[in-house]
Amino acid sequence: TAAPDLAGRHVVISAGGTREPLDPVRFLGNRSSGKQGYALARTAAARGARVTLVEANTRLPDPAGVDVVHVGTAVELRAAVLAAAADADAVVMAAAVADFRPAEYAAGKIKKKDGEEPAPVVLVRNPDILAEISAERVRADQVIVGFAAETDDVLANGRAKLLRKGCDLLVVNEVGEHRTFGAEENEAVVLAADGTETPVPHGPKEALADTVWDLALPLFH
Ligand code: PMT
Repeated sequence: TAAPDLAGRHVVISAGGTREPLDPVRFLGNRSSGKQGYALARTAAARGARVTLVEANTRLPDPAGVDVVHVGTAVELRAAVLAAAADADAVVMAAAVADFRPAEYAAGKIKKKDGEEPAPVVLVRNPDILAEISAERVRADQVIVGFAAETDDVLANGRAKLLRKGCDLLVVNEVGEHRTFGAEENEAVVLAADGTETPVPHGPKEALADTVWDLALPLFH
């Protein structure tokens, strides 16, 4: 069993992928399964933390001993994360949050009309939850961890994202149609605000999760 080095800590983790509805039957979504976020929740609970898991559209059973909040959209995920973050020692944003949502929601199913071209889908920006909680810092000693899902120029994009988002740690992982999403394993480089970079070799998502907690621990003080 793991050392209870997170005992007395409350950690908030987001997992899964948001779905942004177009109409009652369709949505814009992404390929996140939630497995990386659930691995973070399980490992934190095993290390003694009180865990709030904000889950969007996974098909995973609630982990034992974890408070789970179920949400659908980015706006709902923001509300749940902000509410739980108020008394959290750490917030880890492993969810794949849609940057944009359809500007309009059609109350009835959008119909195709004979001889008409499809109407363009107009998008508007979603709130950037990670940037918001990093800027506001409801608690000065709160540790905020983001993930960066990149398909190219992985490290350069990750370094720029760490600065832009303002979090303490950023876990940079490469994703693709058949890479990382839904897999049991992951590999990553964890970037810290002080410039240190910790490579995590290919292995179970739990191993990456434990490295995230190892790197977060010394930042609590
Ligand atoms: O769920 P799995 O199948 O196990 O796959 C794991 C994963 C690939 C989803 C995970 O490891 C991962 O990389 N999660 C972050 C995905 C993502 O949204 O990355 P991003 O580079 O688009 O966003 C950067 C960070 O900002 C993330 O922490 C994200 O949660 C956050 N964000 C993004 C947009 C937004 N509007 N608000 C946010 O808070």
